[in-house]
Amino acid sequence: MALTITPLTPAFGAEIAGIDAAKALRDAAFRPIRDAFEEYSVILLRDQGFDDASQIAFSKHFGPLEISISANPAGGTHFARQSNVDMTSGGIIAKDDRRMRYQLGNYLWHTDSSFKPVPALCSLLSAREVPPEGGNTEFASMRAAHAALPAETRRKLEGLVAVHSLAYSRARVDPTVLTPNQRQEVPAVRQTMVRSNPVNGRNAIFIGAHASHVEGWPLAEGRQFIAELMAFATQPRFTYSHRWRPGDIVIWDNRAVLHRATAYDTVKYRRLMQRTTVAGDGPTVADPLVPADQVAEMYASVGVPA
Ligand SMILES: [Fe+2]
Repeated sequence: MALTITPLTPAFGAEIAGIDAAKALRDAAFRPIRDAFEEYSVILLRDQGFDDASQIAFSKHFGPLEISISANPAGGTHFARQSNVDMTSGGIIAKDDRRMRYQLGNYLWHTDSSFKPVPALCSLLSAREVPPEGGNTEFASMRAAHAALPAETRRKLEGLVAVHSLAYSRARVDPTVLTPNQRQEVPAVRQTMVRSNPVNGRNAIFIGAHASHVEGWPLAEGRQFIAELMAFATQPRFTYSHRWRPGDIVIWDNRAVLHRATAYDTVKYRRLMQRTTVAGDGPTVADPLVPADQVAEMYASVGVPA
């Protein structure tokens, strides 16, 4: 079967058909997927028979995998499970359970692992059980948005660094969802606000829910700027909403897109998605660490104990 590539939107995203990615792939067979990933930022493959082992094997074509932080772990440390299904009992998890509250943070536009010193290259999310309605995943092209920014804003962004923090982003949803120990495991980090694709040189705005403020600016001013960029970049012309079917796998470039989960009836329907995350090849700034006084100010602003 010939491989075909069909764009999902005029701005970004493509469906690739004609490949059985759950089977062992030779490097030559993987090459067109990697090339399309660099070009389109979001890749959809339908009707794939992934299980945990084949998803890990396929993901490793993109690079070494991250160890994931998951509130509802399953299948080993390489998986971040997006689900309302308890891994042990197989039953539905109560809405007020910490594992469900933790997932509420995913409703905010974000890029995976931007709160780590080395942010992720890409994430691969495979649909095992899908609710009959709701539960879409949405994507926003930060590359298309960057290209459409007023020239003055693009210039303003040059050389800026934002501070990213999981404690900050989760506190915006629920200040108690991370334990003090969990907070200590994810110290705030600095990330450049514009990332350039190493293959084609195209730039993308790098922000999202974990981005608290702009380094060197008053907190409120930086947050205002980030909020304006977010509002601009998530307009419908830069976004794609994916309606899942069982057997889908979507691969997205965390350097170039934001994504968010959308609601579904977590009491009525089961949803089981397994995510693998491929590590990036290095930090985006020379020194990712954030001075303690900046962290204290950021924490205080969202009611997180220092
Ligand atoms: Fe995510």
